[in-house]
Amino acid sequence: ASILVLHGPNLNLLGRREPDQYGAATLAEIDQALMDQAAEAGHHLQHLQSNAEYELIERIHGAPAEGIDFILFNPAAFTHTSVALRDALLAVRIPFIEVHLSNVHRRETFRHHSYFSDIAEGVICGLGATGYRLALAAALEKLDQAQE
Ligand code: DQA
Repeated sequence: ASILVLHGPNLNLLGRREPDQYGAATLAEIDQALMDQAAEAGHHLQHLQSNAEYELIERIHGAPAEGIDFILFNPAAFTHTSVALRDALLAVRIPFIEVHLSNVHRRETFRHHSYFSDIAEGVICGLGATGYRLALAAALEKLDQAQE
């Protein structure tokens, strides 16, 4: 299967950005670990980080034609603002898991609402980079089940 990992704004700064909140791992390390994990299971994984809502929307629009079966998405600050990204995911109807490194529910109230959680297959937050690994494991399990 083909999996797409999308990372929203400021996640390119991981490792340097508020490490007590987001951990020490860089985005490159997280993406590499996910590619290895997918490859070991015989699947293909691509990733994109963008600080631009437009780019993320365009990539989601292109996902069906690319044969993407599942998306892992950390919308970052767009989590709390973006009806446009929500609508893009609804339009392509590709299942996705929402991932956050930090526990957004322990933070400012404006982070408690997500435009994605009610349309996601599942949501993981507060587990740092481990959350991405668990999300990928869950996605692969769902894809295997769908194939049986
Ligand atoms: C985040 C949480 C968001 O509230 C924040 O804007 C981010 C990262 C996380 O991974 O914990 O940029 O999505």
